[in-house]
Amino acid sequence: MGEHAARQTGAGASEGHARITASVYTSHVPAIGAAIDLGKTEEPYWKPLFAGYEPSKQWMRENKPDVVFLVYNDHATSFDLGMIPTFAIGTAAEFEPGDEGYGPRPVPKVIGHPELASHIAQSVIQQDFDLTIVNDLKVDHGLTVPMNLLFGSPEAWPVKVIPFHVNVVQYPVPSGARCFALGQAIRRAIESYDAPLKVQIWGTGGMSHQLQGPRAGLINKEWDNKFLDRLIAEPAELAKVSHIEYVREAGSEGIELVMWLIARGAMSDVDGGPAPTLKHRFFHVPASNTAVGHLIMENN
Ligand code: DHB
Ligand code: FE
Repeated sequence: MGEHAARQTGAGASEGHARITASVYTSHVPAIGAAIDLGKTEEPYWKPLFAGYEPSKQWMRENKPDVVFLVYNDHATSFDLGMIPTFAIGTAAEFEPGDEGYGPRPVPKVIGHPELASHIAQSVIQQDFDLTIVNDLKVDHGLTVPMNLLFGSPEAWPVKVIPFHVNVVQYPVPSGARCFALGQAIRRAIESYDAPLKVQIWGTGGMSHQLQGPRAGLINKEWDNKFLDRLIAEPAELAKVSHIEYVREAGSEGIELVMWLIARGAMSDVDGGPAPTLKHRFFHVPASNTAVGHLIMENN
């Protein structure tokens, strides 16, 4: 075997590849962003919520990746009823915060990773998932609030971010099982990228909440905590939960939780590897009309 071939296929080859170091899960309630922007994080209502993310920010300082693959849903900010991609990957060099009605949030623009994003698009589409490729994308609270929760409020975000949008707003939305399988395809895509990047995958949205109709304000702590237990311990079984159960038990917007299954599907244990290490678990009610859940898992 020549030296070149050895470099391509030998034992050291994996050192030259991207790898998923961890998955992070968090709700993305817009009122959390407003509390940050309006300087209310020390108020009694908000303090316990932000305290739950202090260990996360510390962990992030110690485990900062090169790139975050951030699964979220646009809330009629960049996509409206005129265009509804089920899955969309942001391949641009940068993404500005969008105007959700009060002007764009005063947070840094997101710097993308066009080369890795294009590689993931290529790989995942060849694994038979239809992705929409987006270069013109403004990011909303679904993406910016998790960034604040994990990184605080820096001048510039300390990592590159690949935004990955999932339609959980307008039916038909993808099933948990499809999202879980997509996460597996995304892991294969990331790990076949030929540069030694540390990549985290985040799943955002949820937990139980319903914003409209007679059940507005619904919160289901028991169901949410069971979801967290099962996401950790039996994600393949959890992926079989039907849309109707999410909506019945976690409210109409609780369906956002299918996005967490994309991040969980990208952990190695789903493909026969060792179980991830749970580094942090936090649950808090309420934040505005929503239950807030948060997990950090290191990939092994
Ligand atoms: C609200 C909006 C969201 O997108 C969400 O995930 C949770 C709460 C809200 O408007 O309160
Ligand atoms: Fe949301």
